[in-house]
Amino acid sequence: MILAIETSCDDTCAAVLDGDELLASVVSSQDSFHARYGGVVPEVASRHHLELINPVIGEAVSRSGTRLERMESIAVTTSPGLIGALLVGVATAKSIAAALECMLIPVNHLEGHIAANYLGPEPLEPPFICLIASGGHTSLVHVLSYDEYRVLGSTLDDAAGEALDKGARLLGLGYPGGAELDRLAAEGDRGFTRFPVGLDKPGNLDFSFSGVKTALYYYLRDAGKRNIELHRADIAASYQSAVVDALVSKLMAAAAQSGCGIVCLSGGVSANSELRRRLRSACEERGYRSRVPSPELCTDNAAMIASAARYKTALEFPDYLNLGAVAASGFAA
Ligand code: KG4
Ligand code: ZN
Repeated sequence: MILAIETSCDDTCAAVLDGDELLASVVSSQDSFHARYGGVVPEVASRHHLELINPVIGEAVSRSGTRLERMESIAVTTSPGLIGALLVGVATAKSIAAALECMLIPVNHLEGHIAANYLGPEPLEPPFICLIASGGHTSLVHVLSYDEYRVLGSTLDDAAGEALDKGARLLGLGYPGGAELDRLAAEGDRGFTRFPVGLDKPGNLDFSFSGVKTALYYYLRDAGKRNIELHRADIAASYQSAVVDALVSKLMAAAAQSGCGIVCLSGGVSANSELRRRLRSACEERGYRSRVPSPELCTDNAAMIASAARYKTALEFPDYLNLGAVAASGFAA
């Protein structure tokens, strides 16, 4: 029985996993606190985590129908993320583990996103190709086994979610704008205009989204108010389509290059309806198998951290007391 804690960015999350059975997963979103700034303010995130962490854990344990004393280990995200935000989770996990005299399992957030695919009614088993696309990360990973990864490509600048959020903001939508852009784009024509797809060269599995964002900025600057008003949904659809093109084409190239025909998505951007649709049809065309976790498991949550923890080394008391948090991106926990 694992209690998992995730506080790497702006969602305060706790979950209880019993073997393969997810007993509870609670996510308290701080979106409304950060919306007025148009992005996550690290200090504000840390303060809210401090206020929310105990009630969120309490709620997860209560919904699980079990008791805190029954936990065999506490899992926590230790990297990557906002350092102050991570530290709230790490300090809380250490305190609970020490008080319960149970083990502590440090988990890498990106491994957590991948491990979301090991949950649910039809859990996936490695090997597979996984795209992690969120507000903070965009990586293509060949998952060779439960603890062996090969990073095939990453973004050189903005993350895919960041590019969608910034595009949404330029189009006058709220924060975080990815989901709103998705809704608006559904009413538009994605062939209306063409935005550039970054690093569009065969064999290159890295991503770049700064060009598409700049192209939108100049398009809106020059298009004229009336044109924008008339075609807001078409512009949104064309912009979103350029981002999705990059994600799907590189996923397909990664599958072809690695010879692995099982492809899955994770991270908040996986909730995007066009990405889900286009991935499915690209896989059908090539005879690949595709899988996308449910939207609640795609965005940040602690269930995925508990899932990843099952394949990691647990630390005994007092070995975990000097465990730190690491902000830098990457797979080392
Ligand atoms: O995984 P996540 O919850 O947090 C991070 O680790 O960043 O991902 C959040 C990102 C945001 O950029 C948000 O706009 C995007 O996922 N997102 C979407 C959709 N829902 C969430 N992007 C496109 N379409 C959606 N439906
Ligand atoms: Zn994430």
